Amino acid sequence: MTETQKNRMEELVALLNEYSYRYYVLDDPSVADNVYDRLYDELVALEKETGVRLDDSPTRKVGGEPVKAFAQHTHFGRLYSLDKCQSFEELREWDAKIKKAVGNAEYTLEYKLDGLTVVVTYENGLFSGAATRGNGVVGEDVTAQVMTIRSVPSRIPFDGTAEVKGECIMRRSVFKKYNAEAAEPLKNPRNAAAGALRNLDPKVTASRKLDIVFYDVNYMSPDTVTSQSDGIEWLKNHKFRTEKLIITSDIDRIIAEIEAVNRDALDFDIDGMVVKVNDFSLRDKLGYTDKFPRWAVAYKFEAEETTTVLKEVRWQVGRTGKLTPLAVLEPVQLCGATVSRATLNNYADIVRKKVRPGSTVFIRRSNDVIPEILAAVDGTGEGEIKRPTVCPACGAALYENGAHIFCPNSDGCRPQIVARLAHFVSKDCADIEGLSDKTLGLFYDRLGIDKAWQLYDLKKEQLVGLDSFKDKKADNVISSINTRRHISLAALINALGIPNVGKKLAADLAAVYGSVEKLAEADADELSGVDDIGPVVANDIRSYFEKNADFVRELLARVTYAVPVRKEGVMSGQKVVLTGTLQSMTRSKASELIEAAGGVVQSSVTGATTLVVAGENAGSKLSKARAAGVRIIGESEFLELLNA
Ligand code: IVH
Repeated sequence: MTETQKNRMEELVALLNEYSYRYYVLDDPSVADNVYDRLYDELVALEKETGVRLDDSPTRKVGGEPVKAFAQHTHFGRLYSLDKCQSFEELREWDAKIKKAVGNAEYTLEYKLDGLTVVVTYENGLFSGAATRGNGVVGEDVTAQVMTIRSVPSRIPFDGTAEVKGECIMRRSVFKKYNAEAAEPLKNPRNAAAGALRNLDPKVTASRKLDIVFYDVNYMSPDTVTSQSDGIEWLKNHKFRTEKLIITSDIDRIIAEIEAVNRDALDFDIDGMVVKVNDFSLRDKLGYTDKFPRWAVAYKFEAEETTTVLKEVRWQVGRTGKLTPLAVLEPVQLCGATVSRATLNNYADIVRKKVRPGSTVFIRRSNDVIPEILAAVDGTGEGEIKRPTVCPACGAALYENGAHIFCPNSDGCRPQIVARLAHFVSKDCADIEGLSDKTLGLFYDRLGIDKAWQLYDLKKEQLVGLDSFKDKKADNVISSINTRRHISLAALINALGIPNVGKKLAADLAAVYGSVEKLAEADADELSGVDDIGPVVANDIRSYFEKNADFVRELLARVTYAVPVRKEGVMSGQKVVLTGTLQSMTRSKASELIEAAGGVVQSSVTGATTLVVAGENAGSKLSKARAAGVRIIGESEFLELLNA
């Protein structure tokens, strides 16, 4: 190997590791993917040419040869677990005990990540080994597996020995993506992380995209850390991924912070919060029981997951005719509510998750109101859930399109018609109050209303006499319909129920076209030019207007709409992308100001972008803008522009 090759190799490794750190640890990329790839390929070529691979080369992250079995690893010191409490009352008692023993202690509050404990060792700055917790005394050597985890640094700026501890997790977004395609769906992100980490083939571990969030410096020499907050700071400064840390001695603040945690907003599972005494000298005074440290406690949240028995699957027909399976469950408590329904995506999902009548199923709370089924316990249930061949509502023969089954009878299938009416009157559409699904069903059954525009012709006399309709209620319905004879263009487009056109796209189309007539005339080519519209959606829009010309005409004979007025100002005509952190305001405030000045805010740089506002630590959007030659301004210039 020549000196030049060696220098270049060192330079490439340092650069690529820095880029990875920005990308995987800070979530703040500093170069575009293709720039990284180009340098990476250059490194691979150099390594091949010279037969040399540096200890911290990123090419080691793809995973080495499979191992036959895991070696045992005896921990330097025993790894303790945490005492738990499940109520704020118990937490207050814990706080009182601590303060009685050591006086006014300061605490740290952290997420209790739901994954597996991993201990990672560095010798003279170089990653040298990793082990699972095991039974606390002996764990498994997972060095080759942890080596592949992108957010775990291969080299840290530290001369000495350091053993750091963290929780190995699979992010929810990664888990979701994995499960959407996997032949064998995994039960939850924790299991997914365990299976990937404790896999004998490191290449499999690499492909599963795990993460480790570090929360503890277990051992270090020379030692400079004297508290938990010091430790977290040290970890951060040495390139480890850490999570939010709150420091306070006020138990009321701790409780308020725990109450404020929004688990749905996180991309990883947590099963509680950990409160720790911050100062190590106080920890020494408090000591340990035979199982736990006395200086820490875990406040446990309610489980987000449970098992129950599936009674049957019912097929529901939606507005577009799509059939979705709804699982009817033996009622069970989950996160403080009784759950008796869960979703499954489609028929293939039922087969893949091995769901049968009578199966015991894992259910998990999701962001939606109704939880989802993750998988069935192997071997439970009997018989099979049949793929429907005729519509359960109208008996029409079904057809398949992609992964889904559809009922073709859009004009005669009751649930489709009622769902279309319900969509039309919903909040982001015509916003007509007082028309529940049940009422709309009644209108269809008794008054033959099957097109939304017919609502505008309803007379009070038709309503009085329908089940449950009294004089007053009839008046109310008629008047709420009357107040919605004039709506915004965006709401009207949304109300049409064009496949794949939701609230956001409807608003964009309203802004671009300014009238239903112009939108109806736009050809697919022209539509494809609108941001976020690809050929499929363009075609959906086209064919909607071809098939529903009568409907649109009847509707426009009864409803008028307000055309969006574009604000005029210094940013008129500008399509602006914000990237990085602004010092003087939040991103949403900046967006508001841009829009008020007549500009349009885009989420990513496209061919139409005219201006990029780059704050601190701007990442890939900035590189993309540079590559595309878009005008880029900094925060001060942005402020000047707004004030001009
Ligand atoms: S501290 C001696 N902090 O929870 C105290 N543990 O039952 C050691 N965990 O297996 C644990 N997040 O893997 C600590 N912020 C956090 C944690 C955390 C998750 C896990 C840990 C351990 C279990 C304790």
